[in-house]
Order: sequence, then structure tokens, then C-alpha cells
Amino acid sequence: MLKFLVLSGPNLNTLGTRQPEIYGTMTLERIHQLLDERASALQVSVTCFQSNHEGALIDTIQQYAREVDGIIINAGALTHYSIALRDALASVSIPAIEVHLSNIYAREEFRHHSVIAAVCRGHIVGLGWRGYIMALEALVELAGQE
Ligand code: DQA
Repeated sequence: MLKFLVLSGPNLNTLGTRQPEIYGTMTLERIHQLLDERASALQVSVTCFQSNHEGALIDTIQQYAREVDGIIINAGALTHYSIALRDALASVSIPAIEVHLSNIYAREEFRHHSVIAAVCRGHIVGLGWRGYIMALEALVELAGQE
């Protein structure tokens, strides 16, 4: 069975109440439930992990690198400056898809650049919680092709 790791970075644990006009009202717990349901329907499995700490995210990538077939990552603000997270993603041979709930290109200029984008297979921005589900579907399809 294909397995995927879903990573969420700083402040994403407060989804639901955090700037709902930008991020929507769905909690991260609910997004994880929806991912679980979609994974079951696709006969794959997901492991979801959120941390406010860069090192914990890197540890988790290293820990799961040989166990999973792909990574879905919303790195939160780390997207824009964490070279360490980029290096961790670059050092694993599985594909990663970068997800952002908001359209980072329509926001402040400092959000326009992602330092992890170049080491990800693709990215989905601006579609809210749906982006996570689409990323899962894409990884499953890519795993079947490659
Ligand atoms: C975000 C966008 C980032 O710029 C921001 O720091 C976040 C959330 C998004 O999902 O839209 O924490 O990654």
C-alpha cells in the first residue's frame, strides 16, 4: 500500500480561528480527517504531522524518508526562508508537493518567494483545504506512472 506523509508548519495548528478571511474556517484536524477519508477511498495511507518547530519537521522528513512514497508539505512561513527545510526535502528521493491554502502570489511580497519550490515536484496554492486533497490525488497518480 502506498504511504504518504503530510506535513504542516508553524501556526497551521490554529487553522479555524487564524485569519479565517485568508485561511478559511476549517481546522487542521478536519483537514487531516478529510485526507484520511480520501486516502482510504484511494486505498493508500497518510500520516499527518504538524509542528511549530523547523527541526521537528526536518526530523520527521528524515524519519519517514524511506517509509513513504511522497510528501505533502505546507511549511507555513518557513516556506519563505528555511534553507534547512529545503535541504531536507532535497536530500530525499521521494516527490514532495508544496501546498498553500492562500494564494501567496496575491499577498505581501515576502510571501511571493518559496525557497522550497525548486525541490518540490509541484505546488498548489490558493485553493484552501482542497489543495491538500488534490496533492494527495496527484501523488497517488504520479506513483502509478513512475
Ligand atoms: C501559508 C502561507 C504562508 O505565507 C504563511 O506564513 C502560512 C500559511 C498558506 O497556507 O497559505 O503560515 O503557507
